[in-house]
Amino acid sequence: MKALQIKENVYWVGALDWELRNFHGYKTQRGSSYNAYLIIDEKITLIDSVKHYLTDDMLKRIRTIVDPSKIDYVICNHSEMDHSGAIPEVMKLAPNATVIASPKGIESLKAHYKQDWNFKTVQSGDTFSTGKYSFSFLLTPMVHWPDNMLTYMPDKKILFSNDAFGQHLASSEMFDDVYPLDIIMEEARKYYANIVMPYNSQVRKALEESKNLDIDIIAPSHGVIWRKHLDKIIEEYKKWSSNQTDKKALIVYDTMWGSTEKMAKAIYEVFEEKGFRVYIFNLQHNHISDIMEELINAEYICVGSPTLNKNIMPTVAGFLTYMTGLSPKNRKAIAFGSYGWAAQNIKQIEAYFAEADFQVIDSYKINYIPGEEQLETIKATLSEKIK
Ligand code: FEO
Repeated sequence: MKALQIKENVYWVGALDWELRNFHGYKTQRGSSYNAYLIIDEKITLIDSVKHYLTDDMLKRIRTIVDPSKIDYVICNHSEMDHSGAIPEVMKLAPNATVIASPKGIESLKAHYKQDWNFKTVQSGDTFSTGKYSFSFLLTPMVHWPDNMLTYMPDKKILFSNDAFGQHLASSEMFDDVYPLDIIMEEARKYYANIVMPYNSQVRKALEESKNLDIDIIAPSHGVIWRKHLDKIIEEYKKWSSNQTDKKALIVYDTMWGSTEKMAKAIYEVFEEKGFRVYIFNLQHNHISDIMEELINAEYICVGSPTLNKNIMPTVAGFLTYMTGLSPKNRKAIAFGSYGWAAQNIKQIEAYFAEADFQVIDSYKINYIPGEEQLETIKATLSEKIK
């Protein structure tokens, strides 16, 4: 275990979570990292920490630079436990250190750890010095929790952005110019769709408030550090946070005896003929977090389920619950599905669409098994409604 120098006197001392495959419901197929940063100056500062079970990894990396008992300040940009989990151990080793956080951050740290550490509250625009270096703060509530903030280090032109600009990606190659960019961007997009999307308006505000900062490096709390492709990730954040969509349609469904699947394929044909990029996701084989990654810029979302007893299938209900929680905006929607003796399926799917404030374009239900003629009718009707 060693520390990775980012700039003179600034080190990455985080931890790689290679085995992580589930981050509160999000499938993290490439693991993740928790990025903590150590700044050596007259006073020594640790920015963020790691999940509790990787505390030793972080401490080992810190010890290659300095004894952790020498830490004077712990800046907690965000109290969620993937970043604060090792703070209790750091504070045992350095009990006189001061924990710096937003007012909501301090409230949350107290609620999580029940400790009365030395706390210092900061607000947007506050600065403090550790000797030759200074730091300033920008509170970014709801990117991702009420407590989030960014820490900026003007002397090194580094923005410590915490969850913003992160990716769930474990890599020993910690910079964006030494790891395949297409994979980084895919993971950044998936991360945005599954973690950040509910807070689009707060992201736009944070981008606006930070646009005049002189930044060489964006050091997030997950994944690789941006030192080359800053413009690209900032542009993508502007697009993702704007609810802008492309000519793209998703068809998401589950099926009992193949009837709803036949309807899904008929709907697919219409979008394909209309020149849309179309993605079809059977929920038996696809993870909801991968579907959300594609929904980030899809104009249409079509959701199908048969009626199972008196409800939609649990896979579809699970997806719709997850999706509405992430609050995609300005989407057009279609409900579809087969039923035996009660078509609650359509009503229930439409209720989720109403909750999401989607524009419902049409809904299609078929009793038991769709015949060719019925499928042709769906195609002709839908074709008229799709621009
Ligand atoms: Fe990576 Fe909101 O924690």
